[in-house]
Amino acid sequence: MDNSIPVENPKVLIASANPLFRKGLENMVQERYGQTAMIQSTQTTSETLAVMESWQPDLVIVDYDDKSVSRTEFLHQFVAGDSTMQVVLVSLQASGGVVVYDRRTLTPAQVQDWFSTSSSSLQSSETPITKRSSSMKHYAFAGVLVLVLTFLVDLFLSTSRLLPVQASLQAKPIDRLFDLEIIAISFLFSLIMVFIGYSMIVFRRKPGQEEDGTYFKSNNRLEIIWTVIPLGAVIGLSYLGAVTLGETRQADPAPLEIKVVGGQWFWRFEYPEYGIVSDKMYMPVNRQALLKLTSQDVIHSFWVPEFRVKQDLLPGENLVRELRITPTLEGEYKVRCAEMCGTSHAYMESPVIVVSQQEFDEWVKGELAVMGTDPVARGERWAKNNGCQSCHSVDGTASVGPTWQGLFGKTVTLLDGSTVTVDEAYLLTAIINPNAQVAQGSTPNVMPQTYKDSISEEQISDIVEFIKSLQ
Ligand code: CUA
Repeated sequence: MDNSIPVENPKVLIASANPLFRKGLENMVQERYGQTAMIQSTQTTSETLAVMESWQPDLVIVDYDDKSVSRTEFLHQFVAGDSTMQVVLVSLQASGGVVVYDRRTLTPAQVQDWFSTSSSSLQSSETPITKRSSSMKHYAFAGVLVLVLTFLVDLFLSTSRLLPVQASLQAKPIDRLFDLEIIAISFLFSLIMVFIGYSMIVFRRKPGQEEDGTYFKSNNRLEIIWTVIPLGAVIGLSYLGAVTLGETRQADPAPLEIKVVGGQWFWRFEYPEYGIVSDKMYMPVNRQALLKLTSQDVIHSFWVPEFRVKQDLLPGENLVRELRITPTLEGEYKVRCAEMCGTSHAYMESPVIVVSQQEFDEWVKGELAVMGTDPVARGERWAKNNGCQSCHSVDGTASVGPTWQGLFGKTVTLLDGSTVTVDEAYLLTAIINPNAQVAQGSTPNVMPQTYKDSISEEQISDIVEFIKSLQ
């Protein structure tokens, strides 16, 4: 207790312009501390501050009702300075409260009480042994409650299926980390709840109990404990995180390479080994897939929750990211975009299908067969793979861009008023240089200008064949 008033010869300063106030409090102080108390009194703010400076009193009693003594200035002096003296603001008007420095509010009737309780707390500056052993009992009991609640919360969280099914080899170390975090979360939750609840119930103020709790300014042991433990926990968790990251990136010697392209708003999966391009991701079970991810426009993020791992797709040839996934459970999942990427971000999903090696081989054969057939079927596929249908319907439905149904052969009016017939040349221009001939009713710059780089000429002519077929 740094700011306690010494029992022997305390120095008390009384600040008030009112002689009655001074006399009354002088008597009170003498009653409280006996004749050994040294008392000085002052009548103005500046005088009081000067005496505080030179005399260093242990207790300053300020007349709360006296306008010539500025209490704000006192509190400021007291709070800002490093002085250990105690300041009491006392009001002798029945309606006004008395504000004491360490956030106590007393009514005039309680002032006498405050003097006597200060005295009792001063005299017992050493904690008696009995008190100490009973506080150990409280800690032991609260400790047991924390352990019990931790167990119950962990049981509840770990059985409430917070995570989807585990469908990849890489998910295992990540789930191990999740399990550990759930234990840590349960413990921290219990620690806080038990200590708050226990204090609220056991240390509740009893009726008639008016005095304040013990005031203490600092506790070095506590501060060291709550610095060292979290520091150790954070270092430990970062180590575990690094080890887990390493495990999820372990490379198999011959993975299946899949190039994943994201764009507003579609996913495209390319299998360079087979020359297949698809809007669905097929994966053979138990074979590591090496995903090479890239974006055609803004940042997207590849995320299949069942596989746990996640990776951003960045635009730019030199920013291809890699992700390794070894699916372990056959089934149909969904890749979703986990990076806010524009108006249709929420709908940026595609099927991810994990099948046996045999079914995968059949799918490859089927895809290759489609590629060899007529240009209309190929065009439909390219259109799908490039996300054309997010803006252009094929059945006449109104969308962001004009519908492809009945588009070929139509006469359109351009923004400059001229008219043009939709033929192969117009469609080619519209795809590779969309701002060149914008039709009325459309807005320039809405159609992406990147297709000249991402779709080959053969593919564009297939798409045109597909559009032609939609009459
Ligand atoms: Cu792509 Cu969100």
